[in-house]
Amino acid sequence: MAPLDLEKRAILAVDDDHVFPPSRKKPSSRRRVLPWVAVVLGLLVLVSIGASSHRCAADTSLFTSHGTVSHHGYPLPELRSQAINSRSPTLKAQETTTATTSAPAANRTVLKTFEVAQPVPMPGGPAESDGSTHHPKDYSPELCTVLLMRHDFAWSYDAPFIGNYEPPSCEFNRVVLNFSVVSQGRQFDRLAIMYFGDTEVWRTSTAEPTAPPGIGWIYLKDMTEYLYFWKSPQKLIFDLGNLINDKYTGIFNTTMTAIFYNTDLVTDQATPSDLIIPISARHGANNSISRFALPAENATNTISLPRNIRRAVFSVSANGQASEEFWWSNVLQSDVDTFNATAGALPGLSPFREVQVLIDGQIAGVQWPFPVIFTGGVVPSLHRPIVGIHAFDLREHEIDISPFLPLLCDGQQHTFTIRVAGLDDTSNTTSVSLTESVNESWYVTGKIFLWLSDDPSSITTGDAPILNYSPPAIAVAHSLTTTSNGTNETLTYSTSVRRTLRITSSTSSWTQSLTYTNKGLVTAFGYDQVNDLVITGDDRSSLASPSHHNSNPNSNRASNYHSTYTYTLLSNSSYSVSPQGNLSIAAFLRQGKTVSTAGASVFPSGLEAFSRHSGKGLTSVLETVKEGTAEFRQTGDGKESSGWGDARQVFAFGVQGGKELYYRRVAAVNGTVVGDERRVEGREPEVVVVDGGRGVAAQALEYA
Ligand SMILES: *[C@@H]1O[C@H](CO)[C@@H](O)[C@H](O)[C@H]1NC(C)=O
Ligand SMILES: *[C@@H]1O[C@H](CO)[C@@H](O)[C@H](O)[C@H]1NC(C)=O
Ligand SMILES: *[C@@H]1O[C@H](CO)[C@@H](O)[C@H](O)[C@H]1NC(C)=O
Ligand SMILES: *[C@@H]1O[C@H](CO)[C@@H](O)[C@H](O)[C@H]1NC(C)=O
Ligand SMILES: *[C@@H]1O[C@H](CO)[C@@H](O)[C@H](O)[C@H]1NC(C)=O
Ligand SMILES: *[C@@H]1O[C@H](CO)[C@@H](O)[C@H](O)[C@H]1NC(C)=O
Ligand SMILES: *[C@@H]1O[C@H](CO)[C@@H](O)[C@H](O)[C@H]1NC(C)=O
Ligand SMILES: *[C@@H]1O[C@H](CO)[C@@H](O)[C@H](O)[C@H]1NC(C)=O
Ligand SMILES: *[C@@H]1O[C@H](CO)[C@@H](O)[C@H](O)[C@H]1NC(C)=O
Ligand SMILES: *[C@@H]1O[C@H](CO)[C@@H](O)[C@H](O)[C@H]1NC(C)=O
Ligand SMILES: *[C@@H]1O[C@H](CO)[C@@H](O)[C@H](O)[C@H]1NC(C)=O
Ligand SMILES: *[C@@H]1O[C@H](CO)[C@@H](O)[C@H](O)[C@H]1NC(C)=O
Repeated sequence: MAPLDLEKRAILAVDDDHVFPPSRKKPSSRRRVLPWVAVVLGLLVLVSIGASSHRCAADTSLFTSHGTVSHHGYPLPELRSQAINSRSPTLKAQETTTATTSAPAANRTVLKTFEVAQPVPMPGGPAESDGSTHHPKDYSPELCTVLLMRHDFAWSYDAPFIGNYEPPSCEFNRVVLNFSVVSQGRQFDRLAIMYFGDTEVWRTSTAEPTAPPGIGWIYLKDMTEYLYFWKSPQKLIFDLGNLINDKYTGIFNTTMTAIFYNTDLVTDQATPSDLIIPISARHGANNSISRFALPAENATNTISLPRNIRRAVFSVSANGQASEEFWWSNVLQSDVDTFNATAGALPGLSPFREVQVLIDGQIAGVQWPFPVIFTGGVVPSLHRPIVGIHAFDLREHEIDISPFLPLLCDGQQHTFTIRVAGLDDTSNTTSVSLTESVNESWYVTGKIFLWLSDDPSSITTGDAPILNYSPPAIAVAHSLTTTSNGTNETLTYSTSVRRTLRITSSTSSWTQSLTYTNKGLVTAFGYDQVNDLVITGDDRSSLASPSHHNSNPNSNRASNYHSTYTYTLLSNSSYSVSPQGNLSIAAFLRQGKTVSTAGASVFPSGLEAFSRHSGKGLTSVLETVKEGTAEFRQTGDGKESSGWGDARQVFAFGVQGGKELYYRRVAAVNGTVVGDERRVEGREPEVVVVDGGRGVAAQALEYA
């Protein structure tokens, strides 16, 4: 079997120290994929911090100076994985506590978790979610804020928060959301979706709590693109499905405010649209949630649109849950039973997913999703206190459907559909094809942002769009090694996909050029797995000709949009149970995202926060890599367990070919921030809250 050729292509130099302790036990039975571990083992006891591991994994090549964290002989806390919850069968390790000795309550503090993200534009200047602002003196949060939600999500399946939003009386043209959460006890990570009526406006997920006083986090989100909603009363529906019983005690106590203000800031971001039309299950009138669950539901709306549309952008929100949460590690469909005899069946349809947007049954654009890893994913201590990229802010993908305007403005009804496809290599022996659907569950919604011409009686006309694309070019390969007694031992597989779409009409064009590669290696009879994923994309929209509809070159440029992106993921995980029942789960995870944005994006590029360095015609560039190593061990009798985790992330944001506007480099070991360096517009923020966590001892005691 040829060894995997895994390239080191992150922007960070990574040391070669990411090897698990040599005492790793051979697996003997049971399944390999972490999310399923708990199904098999029932109550699995895991630990986030404890004794016994022999190495400190802080990568000193990245973080030269940080506080020393000493080892203490405290009693081992326990972390439990979970049983099933009826609504979302995905199983994830999740941390918890058992009674041991306890620390004085006065010495315990809430553990602050956070997602590294660029600052948002606030009245006083760029503001980070954790409270540091660049110009704190100028900023008064009392200025014009509205409390949208104060709600505790306990048993909350089918019980979303319902609120009535009334616009404030102040003048505003920008809106920033402040979502803050505290939680204590034992709980999974949960997905949450915020709607205005039938329209999804934000998707987030939770961190996993700990014993009192628990954890907390804040996420600030620029929501200016939804000015259409903010300007009139709305029904707010916030869905955070959770459950509480004697084992899962974590309630999510949430507060959401919106901050409104006026600014004369100028960037290329599209002015907020005149109209936003949901493509959703449309249950808002019943105080119910409106996301579609694929493949069970048909994510289609049939609607007619206004006839005077100047520009239309479809934005799609989609993520896999349940058996599709770790889609990026799935095997080819022909290999799902390879390790039946040892680790069990593996999820299939390949590690490739394409989210498709169809108009009248024809593809109008696609999203090759960013693989968001939630806070319970793979190994929980990878994500505490630094959560994975986009775990607190799942992003939507914009697809400019303006080339369809001559069709969409004909006054007739049209269908808009969202589909998720995988790959099937079993139905046709000579070629691999995109599937029509995938396994349970993908939660999807869409919406159409519309900009109308000033003359309500005008009708956008032109030639019908020309759809220029063929099915993607797909190549898969796989090979198997078998021991002399016929047991399958290793599976090497690779998937690569390439696709170009070009849709043009007399009004405008939309092009996407995408590549995907994933090299997979399953070893140890199905218990260990490496996936090395790279997605690249180039999306571009432009008006067909400056003279056609509008002779003003400035307004023409404002409708152009160009985004390039690269997503990388290297996951190396192993799971084993010795004949004595000793359990070990270990993982190394490195995830990266590089994105550049130019032109009239619907969603903010991030430049909006930096008024002194913004302006027209700039391309923003964001580049980040996060990596971590974590392990859990537990003895067969379930009485002793130990584990650890470390993570570090570098995040840089700025203007292409120009200034760095935001930089952060942060590291955490065993739940504690050990290094945190940041710059806003080249300087350290005036107020920096580096209270990233408690000391190792304090945190351990807190589990007690
Ligand atoms: C995955 O981890 C194992 C165990 O530490 C290590 O031997 C192997 O080299 C790693 N593979 C990759 C591709 O990083
Ligand atoms: C993290 O925890 C492990 C397990 O208790 C321990 O061996 C390791 O030394 C800790 N790391 C640091 C930097 O304290
Ligand atoms: C908190 O911990 C510090 C040492 O870490 C100790 O000096 C102090 O007395 C403790 N305070 C309380 C209220 O227990
Ligand atoms: C966000 O809200 C939390 C509490 O709800 C508050 O502590 C924090 O200061 C707010 N942040 C901003 C930037 O307003
Ligand atoms: C969350 O709310 C519940 C009641 O809804 C309350 O009992 C609990 O103390 C709150 N937790 C925190 C951390 O504020
Ligand atoms: C609201 O619920 C009723 C009763 O289940 C159902 O008939 C109706 O279609 C629902 N309406 C929406 C908008 O979901
Ligand atoms: C979904 O609904 C649309 C519109 O009603 C219909 O054309 C299409 O066949 C349906 N698709 C499936 C898979 O049922
Ligand atoms: C593997 O197991 C699945 C059920 O888990 C079963 O449907 C399938 O037939 C088995 N395949 C082989 C080759 O044993
Ligand atoms: C080994 O894997 C192949 C290919 O998936 C499968 O057909 C075969 O049944 C497996 N053998 C065993 C013993 O499970
Ligand atoms: C299999 O794929 C090939 C190439 O795309 C195609 O020509 C052939 O018709 C397909 N066969 C079946 C049975 O679908
Ligand atoms: C996943 O989808 C494939 C193809 O539709 C199907 O054969 C398989 O049974 C599904 N697996 C699960 C676990 O639902
Ligand atoms: C096959 O051989 C492997 C080692 O090569 C061993 O671990 C396994 O138990 C054997 N399986 C059977 C069914 O004999």
